[in-house]
Amino acid sequence: MSRTIAILTGGGDCPGLNAVIRGVVRSAILDHNWRVIGIEDGFDGLVGEPRWRELTLASVRGILPRGGTILGTSNRGNPFAYPVENNGTTRMVDVSAEVVENFQRLGADALVAVGGDGTLKIALTLQEKGIPMVGVPKTIDNDLRGTDVTFGYNTAVGIVTEALDRLHTTAESHHRVMVTEVMGRDAGWIALESGIAGSADVILIPEIPFDLNTVCDAIHQRKALGRKFSIVVVSEGAFPAAGRKVVQLTASENRGVERLGGVGAFVAEEISGRMQVETRVVVLGHVQRGGTPSPFDRILGSRFGIKAVELIAQGRYGRMVSLQGRHVYDVDIADAVDSLNLVEPDGDLVRSAEALGITFGRPTLP
Ligand code: F6P
Repeated sequence: MSRTIAILTGGGDCPGLNAVIRGVVRSAILDHNWRVIGIEDGFDGLVGEPRWRELTLASVRGILPRGGTILGTSNRGNPFAYPVENNGTTRMVDVSAEVVENFQRLGADALVAVGGDGTLKIALTLQEKGIPMVGVPKTIDNDLRGTDVTFGYNTAVGIVTEALDRLHTTAESHHRVMVTEVMGRDAGWIALESGIAGSADVILIPEIPFDLNTVCDAIHQRKALGRKFSIVVVSEGAFPAAGRKVVQLTASENRGVERLGGVGAFVAEEISGRMQVETRVVVLGHVQRGGTPSPFDRILGSRFGIKAVELIAQGRYGRMVSLQGRHVYDVDIADAVDSLNLVEPDGDLVRSAEALGITFGRPTLP
């Protein structure tokens, strides 16, 4: 049976998106002889005059090693709360009916939505309104449930680990405390795994609110042992037990999405203020999301794309592809977006890090 399927990438970009697009296109055309169209800029591409393009074998040639997404993306395009500007004021409007109508006008039978928690929640609600949907989990933060890991995460951990290796030599030469702020809005996976791989001394994550006294004690103990430098890795969403997350822009200042950033500078200032030690801050920011995907993410993204096509062929909508152990399965999108995949404060990984001598700044019991 000849079919047309559509694909879009939503939310923040991440390495491996093009591998998914390529996997979907190659499998749909080579295995099923279907037609594939790509929606531009996430769900935004279905608002107003639809923006889309034909995806052929030629259009996905050479994109496997490329970061970003050839389709473009948007992390502001929620059709259920779409910002519409009028006379200098912004109103949030529900344009979901228009999105469904535009999708149907394109003559597509199903949509592959590649995205994180936000995009997949939108996908689920649009499916209830009439768009047959299959989800592919994406985020460098690795905070989506229902899969052992999201693609993009492995690349981000590699980038941060390399940065920590580089920061070690300069920190040691200058006897400094080097504070590295990394992404991780709600989940501290990037800080945790890159911190272990990059031999950090202190790791601060949102799941374990920190006490600066404990952090300073750890740095002090290292000094006492003759280690005159320390490496601190802090997730952007980490916060002191007696405080709150450091926010650059509130949700109302930033079209509904809080922009985090600045906890690295806060921690560095506190450490230098409390101790006789020089600090520097490095904010890795979007470097963690850019550039070429790791081999792991290329392979995982490709497998996810192929599995998404298989689910459509079987008519199994409302499902999200998922890595479990070494195999790619599928789960209900609803279960995957029900809650976030957070680091367990007393789980094996954190305990292993502590056994290696890494401090999480846990407040000491009175
Ligand atoms: O969700 C992924 C993520 O990289 C978060 O870690 C970070 O807070 C956010 O995206 C940044 O988004 P933006 O691209 O809008 O700055």
